[in-house]
Amino acid sequence: MKSKELRDNFLGFFRQRGHRIVSSSSLIPEDESVLFTTAGMQQFKPYYLGKESPLGRNVASCQKCFRTSDIDEVGDKRHLTFFEMLGNFSFGGYFKEKAIALAFEYLTSFLHFPVSELRVTVFEGDEKTPRDEQSAEVWKKFGFSEEKGNLKFCSREDNFWGPTGKEGPCGPTTEIYYRDIEIWNLVFNEYYRDKNGLFTPLEQKGVDTGMGLERLTMAVQKKSNVFETDLFYPIIRQLKKSGFETAGRGERIIADHIKGAVFLISEGVFPSNVGRGYVLRRLLRRAIRYANILKLPEMSLISAAKETIGIYKDVYPTLLSRNADILTVIQEEREKFEKTLKRGLKELELKIEEAQKQGVKRISGKTAFDLFQSYGFPLEITEEIAKERGFSVEKEGFEREFKRHQEISRRGAERKFGGIGREAGIEERKLHTATHLLQAALRKVLGDKVRQMGSDINSERLRFDFSFPRKMTQEEIKKVEMLVNQKIKEDIEVKREVMSYEKAVNSGALAFFKEKYPQEVSVYTIGDFSKEICAGPHVRRTSELGHFKIVKEESSGAGVRRIKAILTK
Ligand code: SER
Repeated sequence: MKSKELRDNFLGFFRQRGHRIVSSSSLIPEDESVLFTTAGMQQFKPYYLGKESPLGRNVASCQKCFRTSDIDEVGDKRHLTFFEMLGNFSFGGYFKEKAIALAFEYLTSFLHFPVSELRVTVFEGDEKTPRDEQSAEVWKKFGFSEEKGNLKFCSREDNFWGPTGKEGPCGPTTEIYYRDIEIWNLVFNEYYRDKNGLFTPLEQKGVDTGMGLERLTMAVQKKSNVFETDLFYPIIRQLKKSGFETAGRGERIIADHIKGAVFLISEGVFPSNVGRGYVLRRLLRRAIRYANILKLPEMSLISAAKETIGIYKDVYPTLLSRNADILTVIQEEREKFEKTLKRGLKELELKIEEAQKQGVKRISGKTAFDLFQSYGFPLEITEEIAKERGFSVEKEGFEREFKRHQEISRRGAERKFGGIGREAGIEERKLHTATHLLQAALRKVLGDKVRQMGSDINSERLRFDFSFPRKMTQEEIKKVEMLVNQKIKEDIEVKREVMSYEKAVNSGALAFFKEKYPQEVSVYTIGDFSKEICAGPHVRRTSELGHFKIVKEESSGAGVRRIKAILTK
């Protein structure tokens, strides 16, 4: 069975049994206390706590998930950063007995897994919450018992789940193993754990189950690792053009990390040095390093990204509409990192030699941070290389330095993607307004496909990156200049309004492809010529700008052009 059919098969089974099928929510969760969506239940969290579910009591989904917790283990047979989680959920509908019966029926009657190949575990209880006798009883009815050796009671570490974030619903779990691989986790949300770690029984009991689609596909397709399934193989095949028989650790890491990156970028995450952007940067840079180690051809990562989009495009169509953005971001990050990777490696070699001479087997946190600052080495890369030499890295020192610089980077990133900052001088203000006129003019002359990909302003010039597949002709450049100058002459008012993000987008305001907008955004309108969501600041009237001139039009990565322009009196 193909993974696509398996996804449908699972959802079909639960639909037939009275569940409403709910689409995957975004990888960027509403719940601010977590960086990414890590489980199917996250979008339903309020319904476990008694809020009435508009979706009904029983639902099922296939949820995009991203976890950083296993990043070091990626490269083995089954650990991944991005994965899809199949799950059925109940908020006060059914509980342990039915949840276990449904799982057992699906695996044995639908997928025809032999019962003799299944094993289950149940929570053994401790001083905080009691042993889960109820689940064990249900399993016994299906022929599982401690005596037979296919049922085992385990501790909190293995058989208790949640909450996600600092507080929330949680409870004992029962896990199902197929041929000794954990495939399905059934969570019984019976408690609320508060910030202080106290457990209170929930009035309404809930079910939350999660089964990794990749592992299930591996079992159904009878493969020995997830990278051989159709959810990965097309990517691995690209990377293996050099002729290896099976995927090695490096290829697996690249395949996982590029897939993760593709999905994060598709949700508007950009590489940066903070938060989600930093996670994306780590994925991409580690993939780039492995591509170098394996001496893969230059376009390999782009090909791997294209294969990823190919695998998922029918299930997640946003991947197709964001296709150009995804490839551009990967390409740009590669170009950026390639510039410093070699020099960074040399520097690290020197530091290792120095330490060796002094008889120390440790790289200081400060050195690791300098490597990050000057050569863009995420901590994992330094650690990985150090480890290959039998060295460790002083992680705490790195984290300390990192935190100190984080605030500065955050401000920098905001400025880059959000606006130009409140402290902008009058020249920057003018150039900022000119950038809006330029984007509108480009769209008039070259078409609506033109989208902002980046922008940078200093007191002398503006720089504007936009998606467009070819060099502009001289004539097009002239037309754009003329149009901007005409709008300047018309002395149009630059109007600012504050409204909800949704309203802004619905009213046709252009939104720069950005991770997260605040609920309330400013919209700047210049007559009927330009309308953009933007943090500002801008001039009051276009006539303040003077004369607009494009000084350069060049390529800036695959499918992206860059314009530099100035204003003269
Ligand atoms: N929330 C549980 C998990 O993530 C089951 O869905 O494993």
